[in-house]
Amino acid sequence: MNQDDLKKLVGQKAVEFIEDGMVVGLGTGSTVKFMVDALGKRVKDENLSIVGVSTSIRTEEQAKSLGIPVKSVDEVDHIDLTIDGADEIDDHFQGIKGGGAAHLFEKIVAINSTKNMWIVDESKMVHTLGKFPLPVEVIPYGSHQLFKKLAAKGLNPEFRTVDGKNVLTDSKNFVIDLHLGEITDPAGLQDYLAKQVGVVEQGLFLDCVNTVIVGRQDGPEVLD
Ligand code: 5RP
Repeated sequence: MNQDDLKKLVGQKAVEFIEDGMVVGLGTGSTVKFMVDALGKRVKDENLSIVGVSTSIRTEEQAKSLGIPVKSVDEVDHIDLTIDGADEIDDHFQGIKGGGAAHLFEKIVAINSTKNMWIVDESKMVHTLGKFPLPVEVIPYGSHQLFKKLAAKGLNPEFRTVDGKNVLTDSKNFVIDLHLGEITDPAGLQDYLAKQVGVVEQGLFLDCVNTVIVGRQDGPEVLD
């Protein structure tokens, strides 16, 4: 199985955890795309009545196109389960997200969910976080000054660009990726970044996931 096959496998496995009547947080990314496809099929075939809470414009459009009703996080009084992808997950279930620049909305939906599930292919499982660059969403105003501070701190920042233009998040902010190699103190880094004026949110997701489904060659592995 190639990486896409593994992503599809975990996407299909994840929807088995969704029950009729649930409010379900819908993450963002290529793995979640498979999950939303599978959920759309269940909604159609089983006449499943659920509400989706989307974490990005992309996912919202896909869900609606498949007949999944979507509400915003402020229109629901609870979220039963959020299913999302991740860029790295360590041995203690701490993660890096934001490879798709959606980590701000993903974190808002995650912290308002009773349960959180991440679905990944096995390449995302690591012993130590940091090989994947840590995404930091920043306000455009003053972002070059903030960039200089991050560089002086030795955090190896890089503006995320496509065709020479800054990538814009759904909130019209920029993303600065930190090339760290290894994050030895995730909580300390989280605290440091939270104190920097102009940082909206960073991609460390600490102590927030309950279940991880890993796509392996011999099938999906459910860890919780
Ligand atoms: C988007 C994310 C994604 O969940 C993460 O990047 C994983 O994406 P993919 O499933 O495409 O590998 O955090 O901001």
